[in-house]
Amino acid sequence: MSQRTLVLLKPDAVRRGLVGEILGRIENKAGWTISALELRQLGREVLEQHYAEHVGKPFYEALVEFMASGPVVTLVVEGERVIEGVRALAGPTDPIAAAPGSIRGDFGTIVRENLVHASDSAESAEREIKIFFPGIA
Ligand code: TYD
Ligand code: MG
Repeated sequence: MSQRTLVLLKPDAVRRGLVGEILGRIENKAGWTISALELRQLGREVLEQHYAEHVGKPFYEALVEFMASGPVVTLVVEGERVIEGVRALAGPTDPIAAAPGSIRGDFGTIVRENLVHASDSAESAEREIKIFFPGIA
């Protein structure tokens, strides 16, 4: 089942020079294609839309501040079961709980600075792609 998903390489990943490493893991998966990609600085408005489900939670303000702290790589990836697949490559939210071999498990220690975002469902993917790439319908 071919799908598409919205992926963000967060400011920690860009600052630490892990963009190539993370994009490589995505590109290496058979049949997956990066169909849009951009480096951009995110503002509060975009982040509030993107993280709408988390507005008001205790970690929300620090999350937005972190996500606006430097440039982010935004991309759309298409391919077989890519929504579940990129979530599996990333590992669970808490990098210490994430297994070695996953992106968060290999490179992260702090929940907030967990390197990547990946859409969690087909509905989230369509909503998030519209926020970051309104031109690609
Ligand atoms: P969430 O959507 O729960 O995680 P995921 O990115 O795995 O879908 O949370 C969004 C981001 O918010 C998460 O990647 C890191 C941050 N966050 C915190 O800083 N503290 C927390 O306790 C949680 C749950 C998330
Ligand atoms: Mg989430």
